[in-house]
Amino acid sequence: MSRPQIAPSILSADFARLGEQVQTVLDAGAEVIHVDVMDGHFVPPITMGPIVVKAIREQVAAAGALLEVHLMVERPERHVEAFAEEGAQRILVQVEATPNVHYAVHAIRERGVEAGVVINPGTPVEAVRDVLGEVGLVLCMTVDPGWGGQPFLPQSLDKLARLKALVGDEALIEVDGGIDPRTIGPAARAGADVFVAGSAVFGSPDPAAAVRELAAAASGG
Ligand code: DX5
Ligand code: ZN
Repeated sequence: MSRPQIAPSILSADFARLGEQVQTVLDAGAEVIHVDVMDGHFVPPITMGPIVVKAIREQVAAAGALLEVHLMVERPERHVEAFAEEGAQRILVQVEATPNVHYAVHAIRERGVEAGVVINPGTPVEAVRDVLGEVGLVLCMTVDPGWGGQPFLPQSLDKLARLKALVGDEALIEVDGGIDPRTIGPAARAGADVFVAGSAVFGSPDPAAAVRELAAAASGG
């Protein structure tokens, strides 16, 4: 298991003071900033696009953190260029969102960006087998995508163990959905390395303390 990384999701941030909130979690040691892009088709809500990536790229880079874009959009390969141009350093595509996952991964890597794939709760872990070796990371959704603040699906722990057995050390494993100080430890022990947390961080009155608490709990503290 690698050292756990906390990835605050700005979906739950206060957009009226986004830069300030991002800086708070970076200063608290967050190593990844997670941007949830939803198109109103793959999932019902519409959220944000490349201009938000552009708005925070400099402060994320200055902190030595990684700017990660989670595309919950249909045909994600059509949007790779725009997000890469605005400064995404890792782009994650849902395997359910395109018949051309392999092509999408290549489109990301061609632009010098790290690629990752995402599987929904109903998608078997085997769905990522044929792109392993081409991706740096596999994200296992631990809620159905679309909204922050949903409870962690308990069957995810068994699934994570199966995913870890499949992936080994070939890629990092990330979890997204319902991660809080109670669920993060079991997810870490099941094999996860990177932990997205939206409401547990930005829904807290003290987001910096929340990041530190999650990091400690992921390490077994
Ligand atoms: C859900 C998004 C998540 C979301 C997680 O569709 O992919 O990244 O922000 O939110 P929490 O941590 O509140 O479950
Ligand atoms: Zn996400």
